[in-house]
Amino acid sequence: MRILILSFCVLFFFLSCNQSEKKAETKKEEMIYDMYQPSEMANLMNEMYAQNLKVKEDILNGIVPVEFPLDFLKIHSAEMSEFKSRNETFQSFSKLFIESEKEIFNTESQIPLEKRFNNTINLCISCHQTECTGPIPRIRKLLIK
Ligand code: HEC
Repeated sequence: MRILILSFCVLFFFLSCNQSEKKAETKKEEMIYDMYQPSEMANLMNEMYAQNLKVKEDILNGIVPVEFPLDFLKIHSAEMSEFKSRNETFQSFSKLFIESEKEIFNTESQIPLEKRFNNTINLCISCHQTECTGPIPRIRKLLIK
């Protein structure tokens, strides 16, 4: 049983932010280090998760969110875990994501608020499909049904 749980953990770990296995092997030490010391980007992501959860609750309670959290712009510069790179795909997704997130706070938009919110969360998911699939099930929970 214990072995089962352990192998599940290992599996989960490899399924999370770490597709480039080869690289990962050579960087095992840094990876272990990363587990204790989340990157600036990982911290930002967790912050974005929490903020969007709050936005979701506000929307469900009929409160219109008005202030775009400027911290989100750090996505363009935050330092990432060693085994991640800021490639073109990442950059185009982060741009799309920021534009979409800003739209949530655009009180003049004609598009329904819930739709703007879900579009943004779907962009979180799209980028994660290319970069880091681990957190996707968690991110999906942010979607307004
Ligand atoms: C442009 C691509 C991109 C977008 C958009 C994006 N992410 Fe991420 N996310 C990443 C990458 C890359 C990492 C891994 C960061 C690292 O390890 O340095 C990550 C990591 C995470 C993590 C794990 C953090 C940890 O503790 O390891 C969570 C949770 C997360 N993102 C949630 C979100 C949410 C919620 C959104 C939308 C509000 C979002 N992400 C949008 C690329 C993205």
